Amino acid sequence: MTGPGSAAGPLRPVSLEEYAEAARARVEPAVWDFIEGGAGQERTLTANRLAFDQVRLRTRVLTGCGEPDLATTVLGRTWAAPVAVAPVAYHTLVHPDGETATARAAGAAGLPLVVSTFAGRTFEDIAAAASSPLWLQVYCFRDRETTRRVVERAERAGFEALVLTVDTPRLGRRLRDLRNGFRLPDHVRPANLPAEHADASPADHGRTHLDPGLDWSVISWLRSISHLPVLVKGVMTAEDADAAVAAGVDGVVVSNHGGRQLDGVPASLDVLPEVAAAVRGRTALLLDGGVRRGGDVLAALALGADAVLLGRPVLHGLAVAGDEGVAGVLDLVTEELADAMALTGTPSVAAAGAALPAAPAGTV
Ligand code: FNR
Repeated sequence: MTGPGSAAGPLRPVSLEEYAEAARARVEPAVWDFIEGGAGQERTLTANRLAFDQVRLRTRVLTGCGEPDLATTVLGRTWAAPVAVAPVAYHTLVHPDGETATARAAGAAGLPLVVSTFAGRTFEDIAAAASSPLWLQVYCFRDRETTRRVVERAERAGFEALVLTVDTPRLGRRLRDLRNGFRLPDHVRPANLPAEHADASPADHGRTHLDPGLDWSVISWLRSISHLPVLVKGVMTAEDADAAVAAGVDGVVVSNHGGRQLDGVPASLDVLPEVAAAVRGRTALLLDGGVRRGGDVLAALALGADAVLLGRPVLHGLAVAGDEGVAGVLDLVTEELADAMALTGTPSVAAAGAALPAAPAGTV
């Protein structure tokens, strides 16, 4: 038997919750609150998790499933599993290597990384560290020239898609940050934005720079400045999914921004069937918010997603052990997904929907 700190070395966390616990001990309380917190009373943040907790997977036996195949193709590229890293600002908050460490781990796992407009490392450094697809998350600023330069710089660095975040005409009211008067530490700044964007307060930056007046014409504007596929992140209704398809997007991400924008909106998983019914396979369909184990990934696939994004758990892994910690988090989720697929008799990602049709009473 080996134990923590034994000759065999410390035990690795065996769940994403254990990574979160280990990360909490390593991160400044105000930074922890910025990462973990949601808007308002955090009802939506809680709902994201509850929705997954209520899912019961439907097992089929003696299917001859064998080793499940986790690989999937999204926008013409093969991913090792239907999991990507969600865009999360400032990985440098929890590790000096920031997004370069995350890119190394995502590359080793064969999973894409969506890099935030607010990355703490330059796109060029991230691209040099990456060996799997990089996508750029785009915030459209009042100053379109700045946005255009960010997009062009990422495209030049080899990024493969744009993910326009559409749920942030302003920043949500994050009470933990308001109480803490949260400010970014001096060493954490947006590495790909001009000096006037280096505001230490994310809330002040949002008020000053986010364009609150965007409409669907922003999609054709992005098309006019870039050749990359465009996804929209933050769709929560069938109407907006229809509008996104009509605007010609290549993908839709169902997301409530991890409960950080408007408190009281539904869990992302709860609106996934509605959005999937509207999209009808016409674009890629991704989901994020509350995914914390492999069974959650399978539930999202069964309810219509092509893949999921992981937000906070990636920062937890990064805080615990840099790229090795991120690799640990990504490995755990994919191993758990393989378990869930094998144990439900789901041989492939494509079979997830058919093998696990949505059923009443939260059972899939
Ligand atoms: C985010 N998220 C986010 N989204 C985005 O489009 N651009 C961004 O810069 C950020 N930044 C960011 C920072 C932090 C600290 C968090 C926790 C989240 C939202 C993110 O992409 C994703 O929607 C949620 O994090 C998904 O939920 P989970 O996996 O964290 O529950």
